[in-house]
Order: sequence, then structure tokens, then C-alpha cells
Amino acid sequence: MDALKTPTAHYNDTVVRQFSIMAVVWGVVGMFVGVFVASQLAWPELNFGIPWLSFGRLRPLHTNAVIFAFGGSALIGTSYYVVQRTCQTTLFMPKLASFTFWGWQAVIVAAAISLPLGFTQGKEYAELEWPIDLLIAAVWVSYAIVFFGTIGIRKVKHIYVANWFYGAFILAVALLHIVNNISVPVGLMKSYSAYAGVQDAMAQWWYGHNAVGFFLTAGFLGMMYYFIPKQAGRPVYSYRLSIVHFWALLFTYMWAGPHHLHYTALPDWTQSLGMVFSLILLAPSWGGMINGIMTLSGAWHKLRDDPILRFLIVSLSFYGMSTFEGPMMAIKTVNALSHYTDWTVGHVHSGALGWVGLVTMGSLYYLVPRLFGRTEMYSKSAVELHFWLATIGIVLYIAAMWIAGVMQGLMWRAINPDGTLTYTFVESVKATYPFYVIRVVGGLLYLTGMVLMAWNVFKTAAAGRSVKVSVPAGNPAHA
Ligand code: HEM
Ligand code: HEM
Repeated sequence: MDALKTPTAHYNDTVVRQFSIMAVVWGVVGMFVGVFVASQLAWPELNFGIPWLSFGRLRPLHTNAVIFAFGGSALIGTSYYVVQRTCQTTLFMPKLASFTFWGWQAVIVAAAISLPLGFTQGKEYAELEWPIDLLIAAVWVSYAIVFFGTIGIRKVKHIYVANWFYGAFILAVALLHIVNNISVPVGLMKSYSAYAGVQDAMAQWWYGHNAVGFFLTAGFLGMMYYFIPKQAGRPVYSYRLSIVHFWALLFTYMWAGPHHLHYTALPDWTQSLGMVFSLILLAPSWGGMINGIMTLSGAWHKLRDDPILRFLIVSLSFYGMSTFEGPMMAIKTVNALSHYTDWTVGHVHSGALGWVGLVTMGSLYYLVPRLFGRTEMYSKSAVELHFWLATIGIVLYIAAMWIAGVMQGLMWRAINPDGTLTYTFVESVKATYPFYVIRVVGGLLYLTGMVLMAWNVFKTAAAGRSVKVSVPAGNPAHA
């Protein structure tokens, strides 16, 4: 594409640098809290009897920190980088872009204070109370103006596919956030949902599942479609497939939410609809995975000595795994076993640690040297070590949760010939204990890798010259 060949446009990378650094910082914080809550499940004394350190309050702190602070900062930062390069223009309304950075950090700090204090709407991934929700809406609308404004002033006709994914992520998250958070405030930090009963649950899981689909998937696919071709030095395997993948994924995701509400008061046909759309979702998900992985065709040897590319490609393998597992778990009879168990938590983290985590790390390793005027990271061997720490950590985490989950499901449903339960609930908790300890070990390895990354990023930034205005790297490979 011509867009990528003319290294003349001047870009605004200050805000990209800010978001990238904070993504790393929040990654360390969010994963530290993850390891802490994982340890509390193995050793409950770690609650210390202090309410704001209790599992129930720190768990949403973990999910908000990793999804919105770590993932969100990485998504907004990379989208600003990508949209400028692929549109050959600088950011639209730079002051508003700066507001999105400071506003988003303010949201994160407000979450970090209010969640441990116990303020919550009680909706998963939408816990934050109404004043913070209003700030999120203001930041998000500003983000949309900057992103789509930049596309509006682009110097090239074509809109590269990564921008379609980022754009869909921005629009869908705005819609989900606003609809799911409509509520009646009854105090400064207390509100009641506008919906009641099963409608509330339906709105919540329409939101929750699409938070997975658009926050944890579509945005990161935008990252994937830019950074994999760049790092591999090859064009996207099939541009046509990327477009089919885009429309099919978006259309299908919106209907799959009811698989979170199997065997509830939700009308049965709605549950079946959610199940069927979840099964269909396998096809576009794998279309995207195959497109990303096949981008390496003819250049597989690069995987041997390029740890950044390995982060990116292995992330896609985990994406493929979790998007195979998800549709299986959406089948009602399978869900009867998996629901309420740690199998769900294993599924979540194969997507979260494997896909979201690794694709973010790979993209940031590509980005950071370029943002600080260097050709590569301060230490390549630290990137290599990070890759192995993260991969081994993920395998330990998810394997432990799968075994624990299936075991719990089987123990809970086991019945004696006289109709009584074979196991008490406490017996299943006791049997789970070793797997919780293995999860702590896996989480610690993953966190160690993230701390190593923070050190490497700091060293790269300190050694590099901070470039206020930069030019594209000039690799037109992904056109
Ligand atoms: C060091 C790494 C991590 C560790 C040790 C960890 C640990 C945990 C633990 C112990 C839970 C609570 C499980 C339960 O309630 O039984 C949890 C939940 C969760 N974590 Fe993590 N986590 C880590 C990283 C991440 C990352 C990077 C993400 C997202 C990008 C993530 C997303 C989530 C989500 C969405 C949940 C809620 C799961 C559910 O409701 O089923 N985690 N994590
Ligand atoms: C084709 C794609 C996918 C389908 C059909 C799917 C399906 C499912 C199903 C059936 C559940 C269990 C619901 C329950 O029993 O409560 C679930 C939970 C979950 N999945 Fe997936 N999944 C997919 C991909 C992913 C990916 C890629 C991620 C992460 C990046 C992810 C994150 C989650 C989270 C966070 C939950 C836990 C929700 C909660 O209870 O808090 N999923 N998914």
C-alpha cells in the first residue's frame, strides 16, 4: 500500500509512549494482584482479616487491572501508533488524545481505590460505580473522536484492516459500556441497575461476553494484523480472509452471550441460540488465527531466533486453543459439567495469559525500541527468557485449572446408588488444593517474566533518545 511506503509523515508518539509504559506498569501491578489472589485461594490466611485485602475485593481489582489497565493501555497506545502509520497522518486533536491518556489513568486509579473499599455495582467486569462510569464514557468518546478523526484526515484512500478491528472495538465497547451501566444513582457511590431480574443478567452477559469479544479479542486482532506482518516482514497471508473474518466475527459474537446463563431462568430458546452462535464462532475465530499464523509461510525459520515473533505466533496458538475450548464449553451438556468449576478459570487464562498477554508483550517489544529511538530492546536474551517464563507459567496455570475443574465437576455430580452425594463440597475443596498451589507457581513465573520486561523496557527507554517526532520504519510488508 502506498500508505506505508512514504516515510515523510510526522507522527505524534508522545501519547503512544505514555500508554506503552503504563501498559507495562499496570501489567506488573495487575499480575501481582493475580498471584496474590491465587495465593489466597491456596492459603486463605493471606486475607489477614482485613476487609480491603479480602479475596472478594481484590479479585475485581485483579480483573480490572489486567483487562482495562494493562490491556486497555496497550490497546489505546498501539491503536494510536498503528492508525497514524497506516493513514500516513498525525493524530487528530492531539490535546484530546492527551486527555484520553490522563483520563484513562484517572479511571484506573479510581478503580484501584474504590474496589478495595468495597464499592461495586456487582456486575462482573462492570464493577465500577456510576461516577467512574461517566468518566469512562467521556474518555471513550474522546478516544473515538481521536481515532476516527485520524482516519478521517488520512492521506491514503485505503483503510488498513487493523484499523477496522480497532474501530469495531472502540464502537462496540462504547455501546456495551453505556447500555450495561444504565442505572439509578442513590448516592455518590451507590446505584441500582435500570434492569431487573433475568433481563439484568441478560444485559450483563451480553456485555460480559462482548467484553471478551471486542475488548479481549477484536482490539488485539487489530494489534495482530499490524505487528505480525511487521515483525515477520511479510504481507498478511490473505487480505480477503481478513475482511471475511472481520465481518463474520463481529456479527457472530454479539449473539453468543447467553452461553454464560445456561440452565438459568433465561428462556431456554435464548440459551440454545447462544450455544449455536458460540459453535459458529469457531469458524471466524480460526479464520483469524490461520490468517495470522500463515503470514509466516515461507519464513518459519524466523521463529527459531526471533523471540518477539515467537511471542506473537504462540499467542495465536493460544487464541486458537481458547476459541476451540469456548465453543465446546458453550454446549449445554458440557457446560453442565464445566460451569462453576475452575475449568472456566482455566479457559479464561488460556485466552488471557496466552492470547491477550503474549500478543501484547510481542507488540510492545516491537514498539518500545522504535518509540525511544533504538533499533532493538536493551537485552534480547531477557526477551528470550521472558518468553519461556511466560509459556511455562501459562501451561502450569491452565493445566492445573483444567484438571481441577473437571475433577470438581465430576465430584459434585457423583451420586451413590441410594441417591445421596458421593462427596461433600469440602472434599472437593481439599482435592483442589494441590492444583491451587501449582497455579500460584505458574502465576509467579508469568509475573517474573513481566517484571523482567519492565526492567528491559526501562533500560531501553533510558538508553534511547526519546524521539518527539518519528518517521515510519519503512517496512511496507503488511500492505
Ligand atoms: C500472573 C498472572 C495471573 C494470575 C496468577 C491470575 C490469577 C487469577 C485468579 C486467582 C483469579 C480468580 C479465580 C477465581 O475466582 O477462582 C483470576 C481471575 C481472572 N483473571 Fe487472572 N491471573 C493472572 C493474569 C491475568 C491476565 C493477564 C488477565 C487478562 C488479560 C486475567 C484475567 C482474569 C479474568 C477475566 C478473571 C475472572 C475469571 C472468571 O470469572 O472466570 N488474569 N485470575
Ligand atoms: C469462540 C470463542 C469463545 C467462546 C464461544 C467462548 C465461550 C465461553 C464459555 C461457554 C464460557 C463459560 C461460561 C460459563 O459457564 O459461565 C466462557 C467463559 C469465559 N471466557 Fe470464553 N469463549 C471464547 C473465547 C474466549 C477468549 C479468546 C477469551 C479471552 C481472551 C475468553 C474469555 C472468557 C472469560 C473471561 C470467561 C469467564 C466469564 C465469567 O464467568 O466471568 N473466551 N467462554
